Amino acid sequence: MSSTAYTRPSKPPGPAGERRPPRLAKELGRIEPKKLGIGLVAGCCLALLTYISFARLFAIYSPVFENTSLVMKNGPPASIQHNPVLAQQQTKVESEKDVGEDETDRKEPSFSEATEKNEEKKETVTKPSAGDETEATITCDENGVDEGFPYARPPVCELTGDIRIRPNEKTMFFVNPSGAGPFDDNGEKKIRPYARKDDFLLPGVVEVTVKSVPSEAAAPKCTKQHAVPAVVFSVAGYTDNFFHDMTDAMIPLFLTAAHLKGEVQLLITNYKPWWVQKYTPLLRKLSNYDVINFDEDAGVHCFPQGYLGLYRDRDLIISPHPTRNPRNYSMVDYNRFLRGAFGLPRDSPAVLGEKTGGKPKMLMIERKGTRKLLNLRDVVALCEELGFAVTVAEAGADVRGFAEKVNAADVLLAVHGAGLTNQIFLPTGAVLVQIVPWGKMDWMATNFYGQPARDMRLRYVEYYVSEEETTLKDKYPRDHYVFKDPMAIHAQGWPALAEIVMKQDVMVNVTRFKPFLLKALDELQE
Ligand SMILES: *[C@@H]1O[C@H](CO)[C@@H](O)[C@H](O)[C@H]1NC(C)=O
Ligand SMILES: *[C@@H]1O[C@H](CO)[C@@H](O)[C@H](O)[C@H]1NC(C)=O
Repeated sequence: MSSTAYTRPSKPPGPAGERRPPRLAKELGRIEPKKLGIGLVAGCCLALLTYISFARLFAIYSPVFENTSLVMKNGPPASIQHNPVLAQQQTKVESEKDVGEDETDRKEPSFSEATEKNEEKKETVTKPSAGDETEATITCDENGVDEGFPYARPPVCELTGDIRIRPNEKTMFFVNPSGAGPFDDNGEKKIRPYARKDDFLLPGVVEVTVKSVPSEAAAPKCTKQHAVPAVVFSVAGYTDNFFHDMTDAMIPLFLTAAHLKGEVQLLITNYKPWWVQKYTPLLRKLSNYDVINFDEDAGVHCFPQGYLGLYRDRDLIISPHPTRNPRNYSMVDYNRFLRGAFGLPRDSPAVLGEKTGGKPKMLMIERKGTRKLLNLRDVVALCEELGFAVTVAEAGADVRGFAEKVNAADVLLAVHGAGLTNQIFLPTGAVLVQIVPWGKMDWMATNFYGQPARDMRLRYVEYYVSEEETTLKDKYPRDHYVFKDPMAIHAQGWPALAEIVMKQDVMVNVTRFKPFLLKALDELQE
């Protein structure tokens, strides 16, 4: 499987970050269904090859191209830099937890598992209890491989017994008389608990040590005894990009802790007060207790159970798994969790004809940087002509406010980009319309947004722009490989993709686009 074009640069990007992720194409899920049959068989082998080599690429680069300056930074975004409010208020949640209660939406994985190799190795040590001591166990899942999504298997350790967390030593002491477990010669196991296994990012993630000690006496004294499990994780990396806030932190946290129904203590490292504040409604829904700032806390916190790191899956795609997702949480469960946390009222979209005169509501996400929809006004006019009540908005720092806007919509329309992550707030059964720019972006379109939409039981419509509808036609002649062989751009690796494919704007041909909008309307009739 060649992957030469996508090997990582030897140096990280400078602060201004020229580096940006690229992505790729898989020969499935195309917009033009008519063409699918013919190409499918022939494209199969190529698809597999490209899939795997693209995967290497994604292991390194974020699927989000803009905002390169955010990479590796731990400072707050300018928008909230001066907000003095920290999220340290009591987070006791009295409201009823609905997290994980409803098992009715569990389902089989809908995404092909064909490329997944389960190579995880586990080490479990069980020490028979002496007297009434709790059994000491440690299980680490750290060798899992998902070929399609190599960053999707970050290491996670689960411990039970007597666990004493001393943040200022970045250490979890584990009373483990037998000494057995996945420990080195010093009785230590080190993990960087960021839920994206990405070598480029990991140096920026705080390293936490699990230290096996033979007895209580060898462990520090507890300053606080907790009765609930601990979850220690990092919010370093690409967080602050909404896609990554979800894929690298919140969804993994949901997978790891939702079943505890709030009875869990979160300890966050690479702590960012503004991040914790931004997501307080979600953190409160998952934990009844104040978050502990792992970077500053001076105590020794003792727990009967603990998780170091988070379970995660493929970005916005989560599937059942016997150990990583044993409760078979689905994205539909995650959607329900979000609605509960933000108090979003709508579980399902308006059914047309239900209320006389009610127009289906469409929210268009406007992009201001790259991949702009240049004739947005014409598209709005067309949508209105077809009967939609259209709102245009830009996703911003106010997550709850935007979540409310999205939840109020029956149809969400946007050009490919992180804004499409907001589909997680749509009512189940609503329609997502993705406009995919030029350049064989099938893989990205499908895996980052299309398949997740299906998994969330949204109706999904995708529109691939033609070469007439991209600003690339103003930059490159039609006989250029940009048009004749877009895969050649991918073959050059991320700089070419970032520079060419990711920076185009689109101007959709409303005549060509109209049937797709009619399809969106149709979907709402069902
Ligand atoms: C989860 O799904 C698997 C099949 O993928 C099934 O065998 C198992 O019983 C399910 N577990 C739960 C808790 O629903
Ligand atoms: C717009 O799309 C229609 C239908 O595909 C096509 O006939 C027409 O030529 C296109 N217009 C332009 C300007 O490309």
